[in-house]
Amino acid sequence: MRQIIYTSITTAESGRASDDLPAILRIASARNGLDGITGLLYTEQDGYLQTIEGPEESVADLLASLRSDPRHRDIKILLDRTVEEREFGDWMMVHRERRETVDDFDRRLRRLLMGVSPETAEYFRALVDA
Ligand SMILES: Cc1cc2nc3c(=O)[nH]c(=O)nc-3n(C[C@H](O)[C@H](O)[C@H](O)COP(=O)(O)O)c2cc1C
Repeated sequence: MRQIIYTSITTAESGRASDDLPAILRIASARNGLDGITGLLYTEQDGYLQTIEGPEESVADLLASLRSDPRHRDIKILLDRTVEEREFGDWMMVHRERRETVDDFDRRLRRLLMGVSPETAEYFRALVDA
């Protein structure tokens, strides 16, 4: 199983990464199920942070799609490794609701990251604590 964590920046005119979420979620929920991809997509202001994991070929294909997707730029791969087991059983989206306090969001994210390896959790924690 291959696992990748990357960050990128939205190209949406509004500067909000969340503006493209409905379209991304639609395609991801269809394609990821077929390709055995699971992971976590997090948005904050203009940034994306995403983990994808699954069979080598599926991850390579998705990465190629992501690289040519004009909705974001400056893809930086933070981690690219082989894992024995999935860390994310499902495909998840984490997005801080407008009315949610930072503390509530923090708590929700930490709950989601329970059971995830420290290396992976670190990338998400670093953002939350920033
Ligand atoms: C930040 C971001 C995250 C994305 N995550 C996924 C994903 O998890 N699964 C997926 O199928 N497509 C995802 N997409 C969409 C893909 O880039 C691509 O548009 C889609 O998979 C269709 O691929 P194709 O144009 O090569 O057919 C994401 C796009 C962006 C900008």
